[in-house]
Amino acid sequence: MCGIVGYLGERPILPLLIKGLHRLEYRGYDSAGVAIVPQAGGDIKGLQLFKKKGKVADLVAEIGSAEPQGRAGIGHTRWATHGAPNDVNAHPHLSGNGRLALIHNGIIENFHPLKESLAQRGHTFESETDTEVLVHLIEEILAIEGCDLFTAVRNALAEVVGAYAIAVIDTQDPDVIVVGRKSSPLVLGIGDGEYFVASDATPIVEYTKNVVYLEDEEIARISLQDGLKIRTIGNHTVTPVVEALEMEMEAIEKGGYEHFMLKEIHEQPRSIADCLRGRVRLDHGVVRMAGIDDHCEMWTAASRVIVVGCGTSWHAGLVAEYLFEDFARIPVEVEYASEFRYRNPVINKGDIVIAISQSGETADTLAAIRMARERGAHIFGVCNVVGSSIAREADSGAYTHAGPEIGVASTKAFTAQVAVLALVALRVGELRGKIDGATFGRMLVELQSVPEKLESILAQEQTIVEIAKAYAHAPNALFLGRGYNFPVALEGALKLKEISYIHAEGYPAAEMKHGPIALIDEDMPIFFVATQDAHYEKVVSNMQEVKARGGRIIAVVTRGDTHAAALSEHIIEVPKTADALVPLLSTVPFQLLSYHIAVLLKRDVDQPRNLAKSVTVE
Ligand code: G6P
Repeated sequence: MCGIVGYLGERPILPLLIKGLHRLEYRGYDSAGVAIVPQAGGDIKGLQLFKKKGKVADLVAEIGSAEPQGRAGIGHTRWATHGAPNDVNAHPHLSGNGRLALIHNGIIENFHPLKESLAQRGHTFESETDTEVLVHLIEEILAIEGCDLFTAVRNALAEVVGAYAIAVIDTQDPDVIVVGRKSSPLVLGIGDGEYFVASDATPIVEYTKNVVYLEDEEIARISLQDGLKIRTIGNHTVTPVVEALEMEMEAIEKGGYEHFMLKEIHEQPRSIADCLRGRVRLDHGVVRMAGIDDHCEMWTAASRVIVVGCGTSWHAGLVAEYLFEDFARIPVEVEYASEFRYRNPVINKGDIVIAISQSGETADTLAAIRMARERGAHIFGVCNVVGSSIAREADSGAYTHAGPEIGVASTKAFTAQVAVLALVALRVGELRGKIDGATFGRMLVELQSVPEKLESILAQEQTIVEIAKAYAHAPNALFLGRGYNFPVALEGALKLKEISYIHAEGYPAAEMKHGPIALIDEDMPIFFVATQDAHYEKVVSNMQEVKARGGRIIAVVTRGDTHAAALSEHIIEVPKTADALVPLLSTVPFQLLSYHIAVLLKRDVDQPRNLAKSVTVE
């Protein structure tokens, strides 16, 4: 969702901010803007502000040949919440007197009463946003005699209920940026005589690897003269902790691929290998995971696992349910974080909550773990983004190590989540004495062979392109699977609808008879996952039922299959593996299929309409 970028230093500021905005595009947005403070004593007076509905390219066109100057600037990509995506609602927003400019990611929940009381005191507003209210509030506090910007921002944020990451610039203090955060990420890059501010590290990595992750309820004043100073909203001084950024430039470039999504699909052999590296020791037949090994007793005694997540991560949670039941024999519940957080769940001592999140910033998942922790659960995070909020707030956890995922539709993060969860289930099963040595050893061997098997699926891309051509214009699609492949069916349908905008549903194959069967006709592609696992014969029966009604079947089958293949118009083969690991393979044909259908339909694959990569509002 909204993206924040800021710069303080001597580099040409506009190109740097625009490049930063391009790096943030993947988060999802519908308008963009920049504001730059002119240098003191120069010819330019007042904030240089440009905002535009649409893409960053539209903003660049709006700026045209203007050459704003200055050492402090902020830029923003906005994903509309309060008010339509238009030029006026786009950030930055200015104070009434035009002195301050502010950008904001998140939601100010009490903006109505704040706005009303400001209006009573004479403030007028141009936009419908909650953000404009905040900059007016800061302006009002700043007007109090002796108050500086740092204090004004701190006092204003003390009045705010909600989530935010903000950055503010001030025409009367042209070498300063003040930032703050609560429940929305903010990273500060520390260069040589220059500073960077961003929602995530992607706009920063090109310039410096020294970063400071701002913590919740912290406010920072960054000054070219005085350096970085951090205080809490409660006015306690915080010593900045500079960390080394673990990210390479190539990870955030397309590397010759047409889209990030395609690159990320093709990265999966490597991302799974990275995820297993150092954790699976085939020679010793062991799984090493510090997040589990440091809490052996807790896992041995655990009475229940509750998995929370959203979107694709929730689908990984569904796979985890099967994994934990099979290998660790622990009762599992899988919950949408958005529902779980507002229920009144019974959480008992001995419950472990696994929070799955690629970004580690999803607002609902973050709120769900906070609620569960308050009720006494241990939180185990499965995140991809190192240093993200969920990763830091979890009591223990395991990173997926998939590398930055830029395409909005999650691909390599999903398979890495499933791989990590398989390792966790195996390790916990071992600790609890629920898995025999032979099965354990065989699963490790199978896991290690996944990268190679993924290569052989990716090699069938041309077959998948032909299938995509045959079904790109279908208005609806149904995805069916059973057992471990039921979540794969859900994920297949989600991928297709996310990026092609074709209506698609995923269902357990047998449940089809209770509804979706009514939709089947000769125009309806039905995508089956019919791999040779425990449910194979049952799935084949479901395929017969579809075939008898004239449905067009496309099936993901095990290499060499003839039975399910005979019922299908098209097949995509995946190598044989253990039932529990099939999702790692059977998901990939659907990723490629959705990708190529979206390309054929000329969709914006990496930034599909209305979607956001990192959903930082509930
Ligand atoms: C958004 C993304 C999805 C993602 C979901 C959960 O909807 O577009 O790809 O699965 O959020 O995100 P998380 O970062 O928590 O995995």
